[in-house]
Amino acid sequence: MNVSQVEIQGDMIDLGLGQPGLSLLPIDQLREAAGQRIVKKNALWLQYGAELGAGDFREVLSEFLTQAYGYPVASDQLMITNGISHGLSFLCSRMTHPRDVVFVEEPSYLFALQLFADFGLNIVGIPTDREGIIVDELEAALKIQKPAFLYIIPTYHNPSGISTCRSRRIKLAELSEIFNFWIVADDAYHLLNFDTPPPPMPVFDPGGRIFSLGSFSKILAPGLRLGWIHADASVLNGFIDTGILQSGGGFNPFTSAIVHHIIETGQLGRHIENLKQHYARRAATLSSSLRRDLPEIGTFTDPGGGFFIWLRLPDRWKSGELRKMALSHNVNFQPGFRFSSRGGLNNYIRLCFAFYRRKELEEGVQRLAESADDYVKQC
Ligand SMILES: Cc1ncc(COP(=O)(O)O)c(C=O)c1O
Repeated sequence: MNVSQVEIQGDMIDLGLGQPGLSLLPIDQLREAAGQRIVKKNALWLQYGAELGAGDFREVLSEFLTQAYGYPVASDQLMITNGISHGLSFLCSRMTHPRDVVFVEEPSYLFALQLFADFGLNIVGIPTDREGIIVDELEAALKIQKPAFLYIIPTYHNPSGISTCRSRRIKLAELSEIFNFWIVADDAYHLLNFDTPPPPMPVFDPGGRIFSLGSFSKILAPGLRLGWIHADASVLNGFIDTGILQSGGGFNPFTSAIVHHIIETGQLGRHIENLKQHYARRAATLSSSLRRDLPEIGTFTDPGGGFFIWLRLPDRWKSGELRKMALSHNVNFQPGFRFSSRGGLNNYIRLCFAFYRRKELEEGVQRLAESADDYVKQC
C-alpha cells in the first residue's frame, strides 16, 4: 500500500508528475514550526476553527500576500481551504447545479476537468493562444450561454506554462461585469515566477466577481492540504452558514497554526526564493535538453515560472502512442489529450521540471528522444 499518491517504480523517470521534488520539501522547518506551536500553551487552535479560518492566520497570510502580490489583500478577503482542489470543490458545491455550464480554457488542468465532471457540469472549452484565453472567442460564447463560472489558470498555466497578458486580464474583468458571471482564477503557480508576471486577477476586479484560489502545495508541501480563496469579503461571509462549516468548523486549523509560524518567522518567503532558484535552473535544463535532443520534433515556449513545459509534436503524432514507446524506455509524461475538454490536443505532451534534479531531467529527455526515434520507425 502506497504512502504517497504516486510512488515511482524502479528506474522510471516520470516527467508527468506535477509535484515538488522530495529534496525540496521543508521537513526541518515544519518540524521546528510544529514544535514551537505545540509547546505554546494555547489549545484554542485545537478547537473547531473559525468558519473562514483562524483570524490570526488570515491576518498573517494577508500580510504575506500583500507583500508577495504587491497590492493590498485584506484578511477578511481570505477564506482558508484544504488546497485549491478543495476550494474548487467547495465553490462548485455552493455555486453550481448538475448540467450547469462552466467555461474553461482549452487546454485546462486535467483534474479540474475531472472535478467539474464529477459535479455533473457541462464543460465548454474556450481557445487560448500565447497570451492566454482568446477574449473574442469568450465573448462570442457568452452571447450564446451564461456559465456558472469561467475557470482559468492565469499565471504559469498548467499545462501550457503561459500567462494571460495584462490587457486580456482587464478585458476578462470587463466581460464578467457586462455578462454578469463569476471568474475562478486558479493561482497555484503565481508565486513561483522566474519572470515578472502580470498582477493577479483580483487587482482588475472592481465588481467582486473574481475568486483567486491559492495553495501551499507548490510553495511549501502538498501534504499540508492548505490553501485559500481570495474574494470579496461579503461573498465569503455568505458561505459561513453552510452545513460543512457549521458542523466541522473552518478547514484545517491545526495545519494553519503550524504554517502561521513559518510565515511569521519569514521562512516562507525565503523558502519560495530558494524554490524559484531551483526551478529556474531545472526549467533551463529541461529546455536546453529538449532543444538539443528533440530539435525537429518538439516546439515550445520557455515558461516564465511554474512547473511545466508544454511540448508541441508534429501535427499527426499521437501522444498516447508515443507514451507506450516512452514507457518501454522507462520515461513517462502526460499526454496532451488529458488536458482537452473536447478530445483534442493529441499532438502535445506535458513535461514537469519541478520534481527531478538536472541530471535526471537530461536523462529523461534522452530517453524521450529514443522513444521518438522508435515512434518514427514504427509509423
Ligand atoms: C492548476 C492547478 N490547480 C490545482 C492543483 C492542486 O492544488 P492543491 O494541491 O492545492 O489542491 C494543481 C496541482 O497540480 C494545479 O496544477
